[in-house]
Amino acid sequence: MAITVPKIKDMKDKEKISMITAYDYTSARIADEAGIDIILVGDSLAMVMQGKSSTIPVTVDEVIYHAKMVRQGAKNALIVVDMPFMSYQADYVEAIRNAGRILKETGCDAVKLEGGREFVPTISSIVAAGIPVMGHLGLTPQSINIFGSYKARGKDEAEATKIKEDAKFLQEAGVFSIVLESVPKQLAKEITESVNVPTIGIGAGVHTDGQVLVFHDMLGLFDDFKPKFVKRYAHLKKDALDGVKQYIKEVKAGEFPTDEHSYL
Ligand code: KIV
Ligand code: NA
Repeated sequence: MAITVPKIKDMKDKEKISMITAYDYTSARIADEAGIDIILVGDSLAMVMQGKSSTIPVTVDEVIYHAKMVRQGAKNALIVVDMPFMSYQADYVEAIRNAGRILKETGCDAVKLEGGREFVPTISSIVAAGIPVMGHLGLTPQSINIFGSYKARGKDEAEATKIKEDAKFLQEAGVFSIVLESVPKQLAKEITESVNVPTIGIGAGVHTDGQVLVFHDMLGLFDDFKPKFVKRYAHLKKDALDGVKQYIKEVKAGEFPTDEHSYL
């Protein structure tokens, strides 16, 4: 059965939520067949798909392009799409229109956006339009130019308090779930206990209601850098490199193709 937003909310305190990114049909098929609860068409596609050094340049048209392909590959998972930088920050009317375009043109289920109390009017307006919103607190990569690094957030008391309060604000604004990125596990635990929507952690310890990882990170396909929170469950880049090297060798040696791969 296809997973819905109410089903995700209902999983809090009952069953841990599994979430992974995907950016195309093939990766979405794999995640969906494996039984993932939520697929995120993350703006991390900037790094993984486009080779860029931040998520800043991603456009609404680009996430729509990727989200359409993911939609084709996923039957059961809930599909959440990241709202790109500057698609929701300038004004809330533009934010509603962009969220609407994303849902309407892709057939996906919800959007995600970064930020705390400043975005309460934006989030509640998008939700009022009938579009479910997932929040994102802690390390918010679209603000890289303010923070200057991708270091963990909420390590000092003042920042921890702000993030905790922001989680409450997001709940009041109507988010159905909150991603907590790169925050101390104790802070993530306190937030998880203080809100009635599920928290989904990435680098936030074991106490959140769910976990999210980037597909290419956790399968060892992308190794430009490896954040502390990434666990590698496979080593696909190594397999791929070995495969391509073997192919090259066999082509050069005239060993491929054999009759098995030829029309006789
Ligand atoms: O873009 C992304 O992949 C994300 C996850 C890390 C939560 O926002
Ligand atoms: Na993102």
